[in-house]
Amino acid sequence: MRIAVTGASGKLGTVVVRELTAAGHEVIGLDATGTRGPGFVQVDLTDYGQVVDALTAVGDQHDGFDALVHLAAIPAPGIRPDVETFRNNVLSTFHVFWAALRLGMTKIVYASSETVQGLPFDVPPPYIPVDEDYPARPESVYSLVKHLEETMATELVRWHPEVSITALRFSNVMVPADYADFPGFDADPRGRKWNLWSYIDARDGAQAVLRALEVAPAGFDHFLIAAADTVMSRPNEELVAEVFPGVEVRGPLGVNDSLFSTAKAQRLLGYCPVHSWRDEVG
Ligand SMILES: NC(=O)c1ccc[n+]([C@@H]2O[C@H](COP(=O)([O-])OP(=O)(O)OC[C@H]3O[C@@H](n4cnc5c(N)ncnc54)[C@H](O)[C@@H]3O)[C@@H](O)[C@H]2O)c1
Repeated sequence: MRIAVTGASGKLGTVVVRELTAAGHEVIGLDATGTRGPGFVQVDLTDYGQVVDALTAVGDQHDGFDALVHLAAIPAPGIRPDVETFRNNVLSTFHVFWAALRLGMTKIVYASSETVQGLPFDVPPPYIPVDEDYPARPESVYSLVKHLEETMATELVRWHPEVSITALRFSNVMVPADYADFPGFDADPRGRKWNLWSYIDARDGAQAVLRALEVAPAGFDHFLIAAADTVMSRPNEELVAEVFPGVEVRGPLGVNDSLFSTAKAQRLLGYCPVHSWRDEVG
């Protein structure tokens, strides 16, 4: 496939571009920042004209795409003023979805976020391990936009039943250089309770993108995408009892198994996380 990847210069996008290319796809990155050269087009996604044009054709770089991977966003609350996070993210997403549909593209995979599960869990989750079965609980403007985007996608595929849109609710994205900090997390069990001690290796994030591109059927669906384990060495039972007493525990927690269930992604996408911080630090 020839695939457009927005946010290609970012933390996750860089790895997604590398892995999709390694899988044999032709990839063109679209981003506001990046290194000029083949395979990259500089675009401000808040400008609809630029988005339509960049997805239609750019010089001799390409003359259209088979699929769209949309990762561009201000990637967390608190980086920019909330109103700018709202403006940039919701406009960019509407523009890329709308332009893709106008151009007849039928395969879209994009980054939603773990935050819609109710992060930072100041209100505890309804049960542990967390999964996609309870309604979204955005607690920030950033997360509200991710929720609105999932709602938007739900309606867009109702209007265009032949289109496939997959929202990947990524956990906190990590690359191997981040793992040196992980052994220190055990000292404070509350330090990373905000996402139930979860994370996702960017390489496994890229694997989820690839699987969704390959197998997601027409329609909309959303998936939690996390590593197989937590960031902690302390056992889950102890952490949950200490930090989330009274929360219903559904099924065995495992010693360090992720408390974000990826069972749905495993079942429907064939997602299978293989990278763990435990293999990277001595
Ligand atoms: N980093 C995380 O922990 C995390 C967790 C869950 C979901 N996500 C989501 O994953 C995606 C990628 O996150 P990341 O960590 O790689 O972020 P990043 O900030 O490293 O990369 C995002 C990229 O998007 C580009 N971008 C933003 N607005 C743009 C615009 N208007 N026009 C063109 N380019 C624009 C930026 O230039 C940047 O290169 C985002 O959608 C983010 O919300 C990230």
